[in-house]
Amino acid sequence: MRVVYLNGSFLPEEEALISPFDRGFLFADAVYEVTSVIEGRLIDFDGHWERLQRSLGMLKMGVPMDRDTLLDMHRQLVSRNGIDEGLIYLQVTRGAADRDFAFPPEGTPQTVFAMTQAKGLIDNPVAKKGMKIVTVDDLRWDLCDVKTVQLLYPSLAKMAAKGRGADDAWLVRDGLVTEGTSNNTYIVTDDGEIVTRDLSHAILHGITRKAVLACAERLGYRLVERAFTPEEAEGAREAFISSAGTFVLPVVSINGHTLGNGAPGPVAEALRAEYIRVARETAI
Ligand code: PDD
Repeated sequence: MRVVYLNGSFLPEEEALISPFDRGFLFADAVYEVTSVIEGRLIDFDGHWERLQRSLGMLKMGVPMDRDTLLDMHRQLVSRNGIDEGLIYLQVTRGAADRDFAFPPEGTPQTVFAMTQAKGLIDNPVAKKGMKIVTVDDLRWDLCDVKTVQLLYPSLAKMAAKGRGADDAWLVRDGLVTEGTSNNTYIVTDDGEIVTRDLSHAILHGITRKAVLACAERLGYRLVERAFTPEEAEGAREAFISSAGTFVLPVVSINGHTLGNGAPGPVAEALRAEYIRVARETAI
């Protein structure tokens, strides 16, 4: 039986009840974070904490608890659920109030919910097989750097990809790839350079992305942060994605074009191994 956190209490999941007036439910007026757990410890907790504060600030929402309280809550969820490997999902909403487009009065208690998902992350079979990607239009709003729970379009895009026999979709705006449905995207050019979209409102500023770029630098790869087209990706030597939970996963085809020899590429494999090595060393 899973124990979840809701507004200060640890409860069996079926006892965690949220008001239907919650603005997370009525307006998607909420932000979230997903933090990975390996060996019972949290990867990049402080990166997620900093991005949470940034998302809340951009939506003029308060920060419901301090860093140490949040860390303690995450650790309690890990230990109460006996999680060795998996994810912690955290959601903060503007709270419950009668339905109104205007924000509720200041002081309305925010809703804070968190749960664990036990899941093998290191031994992921997709790391050996690679992912098939198709591209679809990016029809999300313009503030993709705010980690809101407005995930309907990414969910539709994921289903469109599955309907086309692929594993995930890369989103394209103004002829350029922004990111995946729930991950950042990378290609490796013929001369061995790693290319990933530069930071802006067009993409989520991935915590894993930052760690992966540091790994790439350490391993001596050349790196460029710029946008690329779906056509450039289709002709790339290799490609990969990053996110909490997937770490680094290779891409082996884009829109039916096989990359390289159709097997996971060496850059993706080296970065995945280095990311896991560092995560094991630095998780708290
Ligand atoms: N998704 N881009 C988007 C649109 C995302 O939703 C995510 C994460 C990322 C990668 O960010 P990070 O490295 O900080 O996980 C990029 C999470 C994992 C999710 O929605 O489950």
